[in-house]
Amino acid sequence: MKTPNKINIKIWLGASQMKLSDQKIQTARLDAELILAYALKVNRTFLHAHPDKPLTKQAIFHANNLINRRLKRVPLAYILGGKEFYGRNFVVTENTLVPRPESENNIELFKKVMQSRDTLLDVGTGCGILAITCALEALKNDINLQVFASDISSEALKVTKLNASNKKLDITFLHSNLLEDIPQKILDGITIITANLPYVDKKWVDQAQPNELHHEPQNALYAQQNGLELIYKLVSQAKALPQLRYLILEADPEQHQDIINFGKNHDLEVTEISGYCILFKTAL
Ligand SMILES: C[S@@+](CC[C@H](N)C(=O)[O-])C[C@H]1O[C@@H](n2cnc3c(N)ncnc32)[C@H](O)[C@@H]1O
Repeated sequence: MKTPNKINIKIWLGASQMKLSDQKIQTARLDAELILAYALKVNRTFLHAHPDKPLTKQAIFHANNLINRRLKRVPLAYILGGKEFYGRNFVVTENTLVPRPESENNIELFKKVMQSRDTLLDVGTGCGILAITCALEALKNDINLQVFASDISSEALKVTKLNASNKKLDITFLHSNLLEDIPQKILDGITIITANLPYVDKKWVDQAQPNELHHEPQNALYAQQNGLELIYKLVSQAKALPQLRYLILEADPEQHQDIINFGKNHDLEVTEISGYCILFKTAL
């Protein structure tokens, strides 16, 4: 007679939570539930409703493989293949930064200044969360925004394209080092820039300790000059844009004063700061 499999949902979750907690992963229970729900193609409510349901050998094998990746600190978004941002789901891969909740403030600032006939350029778009969310929020307000999204990583741009097409948006993608490779004709029409560029200095992160950051693309995280090199370069380049009204930048709040001072020297005036994000107005 075949012996019934003794590992059920509750037992698997308990054991996996313990393994994750032992590795000091703070969100151990939630991660274990999300991973099992993903492996079984159910939602978390199903797990809570059926704790005694036995798991097949294949399901256990699949879920254990995912837990083992999480134990190595692979971000959950890479394991699950997506992340929620501003209430919408986005495809995320190991070629794109994992969207952070603090970046939602960029959207709040954008919504305060958007107008019909605006043309947005999202620099360093990654998986496209800012470009796509701005486009969708503008549409909600009957504003048909023209949107350009650029990145130095062609692999990241493939993910942006996928996200835009999943959301049925018409966005123009540009492979460019900051503004350098963007045709002047496009730059001439840009009225708002959003940019969550890399702003972490590598010195700040202990490279020897396990950290989720080690799994994210290094060119999405790190910048020289105390993390400010790329932001400063973009501010200098943006000065030449004839129609630019607003520049929305994200950085660590500890860096804000330096960025504000730099902006002042480039005719940018701070209008508002919201969490990690700064809204600059140009002299236009
Ligand atoms: C911090 S991630 C932000 C991604 C996305 N905008 C977000 O908010 O989640 C920075 C992005 O900037 C891109 N990047 C880095 N250096 C760049 C450069 N010189 N020019 C354009 N993009 C750059 C990276 O490839 C990465 O996608």
